[in-house]
Amino acid sequence: MKIIVIGGTGLIGSKIVTKLRNSDFEVVAASRSSGVNTTTGRGLADALAGASVVIDVSNSPSFDGTAALEFFETSTRNLLDAEKAAGVRHHVALSVVGTERLSESGYMRAKFAQEKLIKDSSIPYSIVQATQFFESIQKLAGLATEGATVHAPPVLVQPIAGDDVASVLCDVSLGAPLNGTLEVAGPEQFRADELARRRLMARHDSREVIVDPRARFFGARVNERSLLPGADAHLAATRFEAWLSRSVERAYAALRPPEAGGGRREAETGF
Ligand SMILES: NC(=O)c1ccc[n+]([C@@H]2O[C@H](COP(=O)([O-])OP(=O)(O)OC[C@H]3O[C@@H](n4cnc5c(N)ncnc54)[C@H](OP(=O)(O)O)[C@@H]3O)[C@@H](O)[C@H]2O)c1
Repeated sequence: MKIIVIGGTGLIGSKIVTKLRNSDFEVVAASRSSGVNTTTGRGLADALAGASVVIDVSNSPSFDGTAALEFFETSTRNLLDAEKAAGVRHHVALSVVGTERLSESGYMRAKFAQEKLIKDSSIPYSIVQATQFFESIQKLAGLATEGATVHAPPVLVQPIAGDDVASVLCDVSLGAPLNGTLEVAGPEQFRADELARRRLMARHDSREVIVDPRARFFGARVNERSLLPGADAHLAATRFEAWLSRSVERAYAALRPPEAGGGRREAETGF
């Protein structure tokens, strides 16, 4: 069976590719850096020839609402058309828990539009909606920073390790299409401000984190439960503190000279 991972060089995509390459399947990582561009369609037909499953974990290069909508609509249309031509039997896509509730956010409207195109297409599909990745907390804190202060909205979060997201996507892609949506989340809930504080402290980042009732999430007003999954969500095993200490260890190891096993870049350590 041939499986194509669109966005196979990204955070989640590279983890999926590594996991599936340990199996008997033929796995192709596709992205612009390997000559496949979903927005222009370049390289898509060749990459999809003979494929049974496509896993789309690509992301818009910009979080701006208009740019993200253009990206997800155009690339999803191009991808689904190419899949029809190639006879693909299962389209798997990664989205975000709560897209349907967060329509004030341009980025979430774009993810919702991606989901709708998939549901309306004739190709059997599975949509996996994940909560925020542990690896993204630092970036989210950056987006919420004004001066030296992080303004966290008064919201509960249930973040998940990127590795766990990748494992669920592998399992889903090897099973029968759900023709529906599966929510995935981590095992613990946190207040967003508490989580950001713990993440920043581990990096000796001195920014202050405050709860700001006016703060938004990707431009959307949120209430306490807007980002939480429903009761039927699949809960992954990795706890935040376990992930954090492993990431800190890997980051220190990366500082060692290459001959002592170090030298990996920050992106590879997840820190
Ligand atoms: N971050 C979170 O907390 C979170 C939570 C839930 C769901 N998600 C969803 O998870 C998905 C994956 O996120 P991620 O953080 O793993 O993404 P990422 O690390 O930013 O990777 C994005 C991938 O998309 C590829 N790409 C971008 N433009 C492309 C194009 N025109 N054609 C082909 N490939 C293209 C990139 O490779 P090239 O640059 O080489 O093209 C890269 O491989 C996203 O759709 C996001 O909405 C994220």
